[in-house]
Amino acid sequence: MKKIIVAIDGYSSCGKSTIAKQLAAYSGYRYIDTGAMYRAVAYYAMQHNLTDDTQVIDALKSIHIDFERQSDGTQHTMLNGEDIERPIRTLEVGNRASQVSQIRQVREFLVEQQQAMGANKGIVMDGRDIGTVVFPQAELKLFLTASPEVRAQRRYKELQEKNGGKATISYEEVLHDVNDRDYRDTHRAESPLRQAEDAVVVDNSDLTEEGQLRLVCVLFNERMATL
Ligand code: DC
Repeated sequence: MKKIIVAIDGYSSCGKSTIAKQLAAYSGYRYIDTGAMYRAVAYYAMQHNLTDDTQVIDALKSIHIDFERQSDGTQHTMLNGEDIERPIRTLEVGNRASQVSQIRQVREFLVEQQQAMGANKGIVMDGRDIGTVVFPQAELKLFLTASPEVRAQRRYKELQEKNGGKATISYEEVLHDVNDRDYRDTHRAESPLRQAEDAVVVDNSDLTEEGQLRLVCVLFNERMATL
């Protein structure tokens, strides 16, 4: 059967990776989390105290990113052979990732690898520029949105859960962070987040996870039927 590329873009914390993983499982496709790749570069920069852009650009030649499939079916992000899946999920690494993602050379470095990963199609890739820059020819493009308040609430809950139910940061701080990140993602000079003209917008503010998955599977099957 013919395989396609599914590109999922959207704001931070609007559930892109959840729906991307679910659709990958449904279709039997490979899931690729491009945010994790920017986070891996950020993590490397933080570990090596690289403060300015030229240092980060120079370090790219020493950065090798991979995804390793685990026995439970999940994928872990690997940086030079080290499993960094857990430490890259913090707010601090997310913020640094948002900064390093503004560097043109970092984007070129990662986009090239992302394009190679999709060369044989059969992938669900999520990020900010997948439908516009990485795979403008993707057969199915989804643009996910949810209100900043809904996204901040979800992120707050997630951070609480990760920390054994205790909040180390207030909801207001998380909301502030969401708004900040949105601004940076949509206003940067290099490949800013924007909706591809042919993307289907999925606003999941009022959708349950199941409802969203049903909708996305319908969109996927409809697209496959046209091939
Ligand atoms: O989706 P995420 O929160 O894991 O992404 C981390 C940062 O990386 C986010 O601030 C935006 C950036 N990013 C990007 O610029 N392009 C992508 N394709 C994916 C993520």
